[in-house]
Amino acid sequence: MTDKTPSIHGQWSSRFAFILAATGSAVGLGNIWKFPYITGENGGGAFVLVYLICVLLIGIPIMIAEIMLGRRGQKNPIDTMQTLASQSKADPRWQYLGWMGIIAGFLILAYYSVIAGWSMAYVTKGFFGSFSGADATAIKSLFDGLMASPIQQIFWHSAFMVITMQVVMRGVQGGLEKTVRFLMPALFVILFLLIAYAMSSGAYQQGIHFLFNPDFSKINSSAVLTAMGHAFFTLSLGMGAIMVYGSYLPKDVSIAKTTFIIAGADTLVALLAGIAIFPLVFANNLEASAGPGLIFQTLPLAFGHMTGGWLFGFLFFILLFFAALTSSISLIEPAVAWLIENKNIDRKQACIWSGSACWALGVGVVLSFNAWSGFKLFGKNLFELLDYLTANLMLPLGGLGLAVFAGWVLSQKEAQQELALPEQGFQAWQLLIKYVAPGAVFLVFLHVVGVL
Ligand code: PHE
Repeated sequence: MTDKTPSIHGQWSSRFAFILAATGSAVGLGNIWKFPYITGENGGGAFVLVYLICVLLIGIPIMIAEIMLGRRGQKNPIDTMQTLASQSKADPRWQYLGWMGIIAGFLILAYYSVIAGWSMAYVTKGFFGSFSGADATAIKSLFDGLMASPIQQIFWHSAFMVITMQVVMRGVQGGLEKTVRFLMPALFVILFLLIAYAMSSGAYQQGIHFLFNPDFSKINSSAVLTAMGHAFFTLSLGMGAIMVYGSYLPKDVSIAKTTFIIAGADTLVALLAGIAIFPLVFANNLEASAGPGLIFQTLPLAFGHMTGGWLFGFLFFILLFFAALTSSISLIEPAVAWLIENKNIDRKQACIWSGSACWALGVGVVLSFNAWSGFKLFGKNLFELLDYLTANLMLPLGGLGLAVFAGWVLSQKEAQQELALPEQGFQAWQLLIKYVAPGAVFLVFLHVVGVL
């Protein structure tokens, strides 16, 4: 990326810069922290299969649509939807889709930052040798200790939020490329290392079997909803993050090709994380359904027993922190872009306002793991509530709206002009965006509310 000063509306310097940023947004806690634990909670193989199908048939076409809309609109999600709706002589209320997205990003970041804080806490734990030689019980009590401490968690959550805001303040072009450029290869190396360890010291066969052997008796409509929601979450779809990034994309770049690269890398990281984690789960008689603490209770076991493990543990959690950071900046960027473009304030102020509000909500999330853990709505604590509301409801709903808009409202001539696909490719995309993706989301929703 060249070092142009960030303007109100920046632009990536190249296709590569965009791929890096969008992959940075996609690959994050969703792949390494969330995918394994929700897979564990939902019985494994069948859940993974549904998730993969959702990525292919819903995620990829919607990602193409979202980038395309962003590049056409050239603004933040709200104004993009407004502009495109008025150009298409459609209802101005399409802009509410942008609103919902900005709010979803904000709600996600509130808990995302807390979990990223956990990984920062584990960077220091790894470095100071807390994992070395520890058995499953010791590792579990290390995690429980962190959960029970609002002070520690608030400290790390605050640190993560401050760093996120610092990066976002510098604008779309500052520093991001360098981070992701080294992050991706390093992440792959360390995941392969963990897999090698899991192969030798874990119940490898059992782990693989759990992940890739679908047993459909283990899933129900709520698992299907979670898998579909996760396809949106992991690809950063349905809330405008990819749309804003798309608005910074140069005109001559092929949107479809780029999408395949991003979705491919994202899926690969999630599967590798699963392959590294589940053998350890079974070898140590841990619960696959341990919940949000899963990676924090399994991976340190590996680090604690391999040679040089303290170093790898330290590196792994640093990488996880960076992966979270390149996602968190995209969660808040739509809100920041909107504030700058509409409220006449500068980037710095926009970051401070949105960041502080998000931080405050995050403190509530921290407390939902300890002091307020008894406070539940619909049987869910604040963390679970925010996660369900955003990943399972708001993102798929946003994606459904985007699909309908891109397939039915926007003139298809314009869509094709922006996508520049070969005829057959365009027809395939149209089929998916008009019928398959919105139909699937709709059906899953119907099923969950029990109409079907
Ligand atoms: N895709 C990110 C992850 O997997 C999370 C995210 C969701 C980022 C939505 C931006 C928008 O961690």
